Amino acid sequence: MSRIAYVNGAYVPQRDASVNIEDRGYQFGDGIYEVVHIHNGRFIDEKLHLDRLERSLREMALPMPMSRAALRLIIAEMVRRNRITEGLVYMQITRGVARRDHAFPKNPVPPALVMTAKRVQDYPTNVDAWTGTAITHPDLRWDRRDIKTINLLPNCMARQAAREKGAMEAILYDDKGMVTEGAATSFWIVDEHGVIRCPPLGHAILPGCTRAALLAELDGTGLVVEDRAFSLDEMKRAREAFITSATSFVKPIVKIDGVPVADGKVGPVVRQLFEIFARHVSGGLKNAA
Ligand SMILES: Cc1ncc(COP(=O)(O)O)c(C=O)c1O
Repeated sequence: MSRIAYVNGAYVPQRDASVNIEDRGYQFGDGIYEVVHIHNGRFIDEKLHLDRLERSLREMALPMPMSRAALRLIIAEMVRRNRITEGLVYMQITRGVARRDHAFPKNPVPPALVMTAKRVQDYPTNVDAWTGTAITHPDLRWDRRDIKTINLLPNCMARQAAREKGAMEAILYDDKGMVTEGAATSFWIVDEHGVIRCPPLGHAILPGCTRAALLAELDGTGLVVEDRAFSLDEMKRAREAFITSATSFVKPIVKIDGVPVADGKVGPVVRQLFEIFARHVSGGLKNAA
């Protein structure tokens, strides 16, 4: 079955889908995106993703291409047309097509909306088979990493560096040696005192929807959680480490720069968080979407 893409108002076979070469997304990376996970045909954390999409647009002075209700209808239609029960929907909104000029078009043009969808493997059930390794890498990005823009070159370079070293993810750090996030994931540790830590929100990191959903689930569990910055040195002393994202869910990181995290096995806290998030995704707990 051919995958179906949505391009500016039309559903087309993906192999025939194309955009104008003067689309500002193509020319300047002038656009934003979202990736959402579909599990059992359900859109996971829909509200968080659509809230973030609207926020990214606002921060870039880009209008919503349509109402949220209309956008939801298209997402649902993409899931239906691509017959997805377990998968990902990618959506991208750019400032549209205009004669090449760095400044925004004087006479605004309609934003361009493109969507693709793909099937992915079933949701993981065994956390011990869902581990990853990472390298550390300087964070070479700009100062507004909280906006989910399609400008991902530094992220791509960091992921490529990880791949070349046989690792899955790159953990990025700033010029003060503080950890920001993964190249395409939020990064967390269980520190040497057993505290679950993730860097605080701000301009330095993307506000991960999985991060937000997990934090909400942990509220009231008695687990000690702090959104407090940590350094590479603290990371090296961590008992456990893990990443979160709409594609990796809760994924233990068992080796960083070739060195095992603690004993190199999945730790008890991450094991518990993996289970909590699995229940979240299956519609239990606080995932009302
Ligand atoms: C840089 C970065 N940080 C964090 C995340 C995790 O965000 P989410 O949990 O919303 O997928 C992503 C996901 O694409 C990302 O690209």
